[in-house]
Amino acid sequence: MPLTVVVGGFFGDEGKGKIVSYLALKDKIDIAVRTGSVNAGHTVVWNNNTYKLRMMPSAFTYEKARLLIAAGANINVKILLEEIELTKTHNRIGVDAQASIIEEHHIQEDKTDTHLSKNIGTTGQGVGPAIADRVRRRSKLARDIPELKPYITDVALEVNRALEDGKKVIIEGTQATFLSLYHGTYPYVTGRDTIASAVCSEVGVGPKKVDEVLVVFKSYVTRVGEGPLENELTPEEIEKRGWIERATVTGRIRRAAPFNIEYAKRAVMLNSATQIAITKLDSIFPECRGIRRYQDLTKEAKQFIREIEEQLKVPITLIGTGPEVYDIIDLREEGVY
Ligand code: GTP
Ligand code: IMP
Ligand code: MG
Repeated sequence: MPLTVVVGGFFGDEGKGKIVSYLALKDKIDIAVRTGSVNAGHTVVWNNNTYKLRMMPSAFTYEKARLLIAAGANINVKILLEEIELTKTHNRIGVDAQASIIEEHHIQEDKTDTHLSKNIGTTGQGVGPAIADRVRRRSKLARDIPELKPYITDVALEVNRALEDGKKVIIEGTQATFLSLYHGTYPYVTGRDTIASAVCSEVGVGPKKVDEVLVVFKSYVTRVGEGPLENELTPEEIEKRGWIERATVTGRIRRAAPFNIEYAKRAVMLNSATQIAITKLDSIFPECRGIRRYQDLTKEAKQFIREIEEQLKVPITLIGTGPEVYDIIDLREEGVY
C-alpha cells in the first residue's frame, strides 16, 4: 500500500479474485481498478454468495471502495451492466472513457476462426478480435456507448490524484504471467500483456508510483486451452489428487500440474514481485482447510510454504485455505512482515 498491483504468477485462475476481495475488506482500500476483459472470471465467495465476476473489480466486497475499469480494458457492455446490477454498485463504479468495446462480430469471429478457437483454444469471448480492431484504430470506445454515460470517468486522473492524497489503490490484473502476449508461451497466450508493468500501463499509472507487486500462485499449476504445461498430470491423476477445477467462463476442465518453482522464479522476475500469495493450500493439505492462523498449519504445510519462500526470496504474506474471502492466513496481520 498505497498502490498495490495484484497479478497471477502461472496461467490464470490462481485465485486473484478472492485475494483482492480480502485485501479490499481488510485494508479498507479506497479505489480498485480492473484491467483486462471478460475472458477472465474471478470467483468471490462472500456472504454466502458465489460471484463469478468478469468485469467488476473483485474489491466490490468493501462497500466504500470506488470501483474503476481501466482505459486499457475491453468491455462487454451487457455483462458489465448485469454485474453492476448484481453487485448493486451503480453509485461507485466508473468506466474510463477510452476503454474499448467488444461487439457481437468480435465474439462470432473468436468462436468461428479455427486458429483462435481450436489451435489456441481461446475463451470465445471476442477479446482477441476486439483488441485487434483497437490496434487497427476502428474500435468503439466506452464514451460512444449511451448506456455507459452515467459511469464515464478519467481513471488515470482519479487514480493519480488519489495516490497524491495518500489513498489506497489496488490494480487487479487478469489472466497471468505465462498468458502474456509478450512473455508467455506464445502463440498459446491471451491477446495482451498481462504482467505488472503492463496492467499499470492499462490504468495510466507510472512504475515509480507502485509500492507493492503481489504475485498470486496457486499450490499447483492449472491451465485451460492449448499450450505447454510442464509435468502435466493425467485426468485420472488430477481426479485422484482432488484438483479438478472447471473454468469460470467456459466450463472447461482445467489441466493441472504440481507447483512449478521454475515458473514461479520467472514470474517473480518478470513482475518484480515484492510479496507473494499462495492459494488453495487446503487442496494439497486438506487438514488445513479454513485455518486462519499460521501456527495452526501442519508441519508439512509449513514446510511447503517455507521452501517456496526460500527459493523465491520474496515474502509469502497471504496463504489461502478455502474459497471464502476470510479463509486466509494474513502473515502481515500476524506481524511476521
Ligand atoms: P482469472 O482472472 O480468470 O485468472 O481468475 P482468478 O485468479 O480470479 O481465479 P478463479 O476465481 O477463476 O479460480 C480460482 C478458484 O479457486 C475459484 O473457484 C476460487 O473460489 C477458488 N479459491 C481461491 N482461493 C482458494 C483457496 O485458498 N482454497 C480453495 N479451496 N479454493 C480457493
Ligand atoms: P483468450 O484470452 O480468450 O483469447 O484466450 C487465449 C488463451 O488464454 C486460452 O488458452 C484461454 O484459455 C486463456 N485464458 C484467457 N483468459 C483466461 C483466464 O481468465 N483464466 C485462464 N485462462 C485464460
Ligand atoms: Mg479465472
